[in-house]
Amino acid sequence: MSDRTLLLAGNWKMNHDHLEAISSVQKLAWALEDAKLDDSACEVVVIPPFTDIRSVQTLVQGDKLWLKYGAQDVSQHAPGAHTGEIAASFLSRLGCSYVVIGHSERRADNHETNETVAAKLRAAVEAELTPIVCVGESLQQRQDRTHIDFTLGQLDESLAGFTADELDGLVIAYEPVWAIGTGETATAADAAEMATAIRARIGEKFGTGLAESTRILYGGSVKTANVAEIVASADVDGALVGGASLSGPDFAALCKAAVAK
Ligand code: PGA
Repeated sequence: MSDRTLLLAGNWKMNHDHLEAISSVQKLAWALEDAKLDDSACEVVVIPPFTDIRSVQTLVQGDKLWLKYGAQDVSQHAPGAHTGEIAASFLSRLGCSYVVIGHSERRADNHETNETVAAKLRAAVEAELTPIVCVGESLQQRQDRTHIDFTLGQLDESLAGFTADELDGLVIAYEPVWAIGTGETATAADAAEMATAIRARIGEKFGTGLAESTRILYGGSVKTANVAEIVASADVDGALVGGASLSGPDFAALCKAAVAK
């Protein structure tokens, strides 16, 4: 049994305006309380759109909620002339704990490369945000059986130039692209195989300390019905959940199922 804390992060993507966010987080908090879950069992994180974060902050701080929140992306740049960008320091000031970097939807829609991911990771580390770096293969790569090499290549390039100390607290999300929002879930064995490969690679590159402390999540059609099996693997430390995190009560039920594994 590792001493890594189970992490359940809800990536809302471009869903819920700031009013819906308040309602969703309130319902989540009530449902977590009803389920008798607290931070001794797991860490629960919501990752709303940027425009919701201030509202979520006010609620979390005002009601002293134990759940944490983060952002779905961050600029690689320092504050300045970059229209439409959001600086890492702004997210820290809003009390964000986490930031997702390199989600496959951003890699596809916004042409983010591993180099971009590394630059955003640098900005996040400097602002003391905990990064959730996303990696994962396409269906073609899985069918060609190149999925492990491809995903480890993304990992290597995304973490290039960092020291183990800088990456303390790192979270990696393994999200096979073919399983995101499709209802197709990798089997628990597939998730475990990749998580083990990722941990081994971090060990080779950064040493066993970072390999042991890094939390590795699985993401891609995680639901209440399948989460327990997925997080039961020794190397899988939680889940990055999209669709099933939008309803507060449903996400709380998923967290409860994960804790009960
Ligand atoms: P999904 O999304 O749970 O809706 O498949 C996961 C993700 O993209 O983080």
